[in-house]
Amino acid sequence: MAELVDALDLGSSGIIRGGSNPFTRKRSIMLVYLETFGCQMNELDSELVKQQLKNNSYKFVEEDKSADIILVNTCSVRDLSEQKVLSRLGYFKLLKDMKPQLIIGIIGCMAERKKEILIAYPQIDLLVGPNRLYEISTLLKNIIGISKRTKQVSLFNIDRKDSSLELLERMDLERLQDIENRKQAYVRITRGCNKFCSYCVIPKTRGFEIHRNKDAILYEIKALVEAGVVEITLLGQTVNHYPEFHALLKDIHDRFPKLERLRFMTNYPRDISDDILDVMRNSSRICKYLHIPAQSGSNKILKLMNRGYTREHYLALIRKARSKMPDISIVGDMIVGFPGETQEDFEQSLSLIEEVQYQNLYIFKYSPRPDTVSFRKMIEDVSSKEKQIRHFKMLSLQQQISLKHLKNQLGKIVVILVEKALNAKLYMSARLIGRTEGNDVVIFQGSRDLIGKIVNIRIEYITSYILGGSFVSEFKNDHSYEDHKKTSQD
Ligand code: 5AD
Repeated sequence: MAELVDALDLGSSGIIRGGSNPFTRKRSIMLVYLETFGCQMNELDSELVKQQLKNNSYKFVEEDKSADIILVNTCSVRDLSEQKVLSRLGYFKLLKDMKPQLIIGIIGCMAERKKEILIAYPQIDLLVGPNRLYEISTLLKNIIGISKRTKQVSLFNIDRKDSSLELLERMDLERLQDIENRKQAYVRITRGCNKFCSYCVIPKTRGFEIHRNKDAILYEIKALVEAGVVEITLLGQTVNHYPEFHALLKDIHDRFPKLERLRFMTNYPRDISDDILDVMRNSSRICKYLHIPAQSGSNKILKLMNRGYTREHYLALIRKARSKMPDISIVGDMIVGFPGETQEDFEQSLSLIEEVQYQNLYIFKYSPRPDTVSFRKMIEDVSSKEKQIRHFKMLSLQQQISLKHLKNQLGKIVVILVEKALNAKLYMSARLIGRTEGNDVVIFQGSRDLIGKIVNIRIEYITSYILGGSFVSEFKNDHSYEDHKKTSQD
């Protein structure tokens, strides 16, 4: 096995606190507070870390102040994401000043990307990169169990030959011990990314693209479905780059009839094949929902971004998806203020948005990330004020489009998966919240029994980009996509 633990003994550099370590005293249960920033992949990683630590008798708490261990699962995709964590670290330092035995760990992408800087923070005891998360319990033991505290650091990316991959894989599979009462779950199918978009830090933090073994994915899904999970979202940075992705989708859909909803994200436009669209169209329980970021509507900027497709190619793809599935929800990501983006390029992005009519759009101001091509080779020539203006304009345009989409739902009966109740558990009747297969959020008043079920809701009003309505009936998913469309339009 590759060297797993790279324990840095920083000796007397301020890490040993107060001579004796209170954790060397036998203490039955350690309390952990885990905070998560960033994407769905991070949410899944946090869930797996939680599972790993629970298996090792740690208990989780909701409050940072009552914890013995604080873990922060971090994101590096934009500077803002990192700034948030740095400001949390200032606060955690105050907590640690009051409680010197507190253990603080930074895990995930920022641990990997900012290791040199973070290691110098006296309040940090643990740094673990996204590809080493399976080691956390061992590393914590190293901190807790010995009188002289040493910083524990485990980073580095993995490659296909690294046996640590097997240990990472085990983490995904071990989650199966704690999935009761779950209705929704993420399942990773791919780790890392090979696309090298010029602005993106992910290949540096999560490493090269590695596809999980299909049998392992199916095994995991089987156990989730048997435990009552009704909605699964397959995750990958470029999920549709999985080999024969359409066959995987079809296989999952056909093997697990009790799985009411199957989603996947995020898609890379160039890798959406006709096969994938056809399987989506023909499989009634695959959500007609595509998160498919364009990032820009200007060919010049797409080229600088190294996205590997043109505006025309992207628009043709959206048209094709809509011709096969007229009701499909298209969701995207856009970056404004990329180096070299002129007013004209920006307007090309706006016109692409007009043309696509996204149901929802995530809009980001370009953030230069060290070690990326755009940071090293391009001049940041859009001022932050201009980025702000473009961000606002794009947001306003999208808000109009989203609102138009929502208004179109008024009076219709939509099918949603009920996710949870919004108010405290006083009465059986509650304000419930759920999502359509296109990911529109819907609220209604109904019995808590409906949580986890698929139901028909008549849409009656819109409130801050959320649909509101009333319960009609439970949905029986025993017909094809075409029938389903008919019912929801009645
Ligand atoms: N600056 C701004 N936005 C970025 N994204 C990724 N990297 C950057 C960056 N350096 C956005 C992209 C991506 C989403 C997850 O974050 O739109 O799809």
